[in-house]
Amino acid sequence: MDPRLRRLIRKIKNDKLRRMVSELVEEPRFEVNGKVYSGLPLTDSPASLSRHHSYPGGLIEHIISTAKIAMAICDSVEEVYHGRINRDLVISGVILHDLFKPLTYRLKEDGTYGASQLGERIDHLTLISSELIRRGFPLDLIHIVCAHHGEAGPITPKTIEALICHIADMADSKLNNEVIRAALYLVREVTGETLESMNSKEAFRIVQLKTELGWDGVKRALEEIGKREGDGEG
Ligand SMILES: [Fe+2]
Ligand SMILES: [Fe+2]
Repeated sequence: MDPRLRRLIRKIKNDKLRRMVSELVEEPRFEVNGKVYSGLPLTDSPASLSRHHSYPGGLIEHIISTAKIAMAICDSVEEVYHGRINRDLVISGVILHDLFKPLTYRLKEDGTYGASQLGERIDHLTLISSELIRRGFPLDLIHIVCAHHGEAGPITPKTIEALICHIADMADSKLNNEVIRAALYLVREVTGETLESMNSKEAFRIVQLKTELGWDGVKRALEEIGKREGDGEG
């Protein structure tokens, strides 16, 4: 298991819940009429096909970043608004909310991602909700997962924990999506070319150097990225 994910799971205080989450993360699989679907390995999976975190490893980044944002919101609710929060539910909700996305993707021969046979028929939210119900997870945790798409999903958040997960999920998706979109635009302006893909670390570097050095910064960032990728070859 990815060590960042393992550290996050360790933060769940309730022994039974921590064990249940850990078991599911260790082996994310879904069974329909005796056929078992497992999808892409969790560590390699993007978090979407075309919008936020749509590169290898994007899903783990999204889970970890969403958890940090969610914890910051928990601090604010407790310290500023004097609300009480079940952090176990928030952490578990963040870990599980998109856990079955890899089951909905497949790696195509040209190296890009597409929808899997399962993903063409059932969305990630329905898949994970059904599995949580099947495994007897707490109702309030199932609700967090069902409500994480907010207005765009089957049900809106009805608890503070579900609202926090929804807001953190949206914030991280938007942060990632906007910075990558900006970086792709900057690269297009400088080179006239549209890059096929870009990860978030590259995108943040491009936007940061544009802020500091202007258009020369974009060129510098592209050289750095090219050099890194060159180093990786052979
Ligand atoms: Fe989702
Ligand atoms: Fe998400």
